[in-house]
Amino acid sequence: MDNIENREVKEALAEKILDKVSDGDVIGFGSGTTSYITAVKIGEKVLKEHLNITAIPTSNEIKEVCEKYGIKIGNLIENEINWAFDGADEVFLKDKWLIKGKGAAMFKEKLNIIASPITYILVDNTKIVDYLGQKCKVPIEVFPQALKYVSKELKKLGAEDITYRGFTENNNGILDVKFEKIEKDLEKRVKEITGVIESGLFLNYKNIEIITI
Ligand code: 5RP
Repeated sequence: MDNIENREVKEALAEKILDKVSDGDVIGFGSGTTSYITAVKIGEKVLKEHLNITAIPTSNEIKEVCEKYGIKIGNLIENEINWAFDGADEVFLKDKWLIKGKGAAMFKEKLNIIASPITYILVDNTKIVDYLGQKCKVPIEVFPQALKYVSKELKKLGAEDITYRGFTENNNGILDVKFEKIEKDLEKRVKEITGVIESGLFLNYKNIEIITI
């Protein structure tokens, strides 16, 4: 992966969790550039120390990195995650609220966070905001046939601007949505709309630890 913004900071963030990697671990691997850099560093450690690690990857790109370094690929049916790591697009530190999904992988990322006792969210300072939605729109993955209906319902929840981005790896549509205001029940209310697969809102997750520099 070339042209990664803030590469040095992301490498330093990855270094911060390397000592958590132990032989036999099942690790949830997030997606995006920070997760990619972290996956490569874990891979290098696995090769150097001959570790037996199983990954639950959240995208094809991260799965390929794991395979390249001899990390086994597991799944959420047969494996129990010991810990996970991921990046984020926006972080409101006080409440540990996140927006994720610029890489369109938030459905599998949320599944990993729910399944893992702890997820380390690695973010550089550019991701920290005064309120959620300050810089980023909220990605929403939608069953393709439901795109029109979901867009109409999102407007009732305060969506001011809705852009169609394309398809996810799950062959669903993805919308980027600017909300008038993000309040604590918005994640739940969006998910209640028939046709919504998942949103990039991560509100009220207690089992995450935000690691920054
Ligand atoms: C992908 C994600 C990423 O974690 C998020 O977009 C951050 O990416 P990056 O580390 O490249 O800034 O949620 O769905």
